[in-house]
Amino acid sequence: MNSKRIAVFRKEHFNAAHRLNNPAWSDDENTRVFGKCNLPNYHGHNYDLIVQVTGEIDRTTGYVMDMKLLSDLVKERVLDRFDHKNLNLDTEEFRNLNPTAENIAVTIYHLLRSEIKPELDLKIRLYETERNFVEYPAEA
Ligand code: NI
Repeated sequence: MNSKRIAVFRKEHFNAAHRLNNPAWSDDENTRVFGKCNLPNYHGHNYDLIVQVTGEIDRTTGYVMDMKLLSDLVKERVLDRFDHKNLNLDTEEFRNLNPTAENIAVTIYHLLRSEIKPELDLKIRLYETERNFVEYPAEA
């Protein structure tokens, strides 16, 4: 295997409010499953987002991907959309999708995937708290 593959990372941050709720369930069921995250008046998280791009080093630039371009992309596609928003009320993406860290990470992946060259792998790591974080895809 000719492995010149290397990963580059861009770290970003956004604040957003959410409420975890399954409208198909009773209030009791929602409280039992989601606990405080089901409180009706929403609550905020300081999300840390790490975008990982993996590929070969381009011979002409010495880059996997121009980090300025990656940073602009994350800003335009993700931060402008979600930062300081109520995810349930203010975004199309989570109007009918429970805004768990899992669903937010998968959504961010799809918002970025089409903008990044197909030969480069993309991975999203999203911290909802310092201790709770998710990664999508799980294997890449
Ligand atoms: Ni929460």
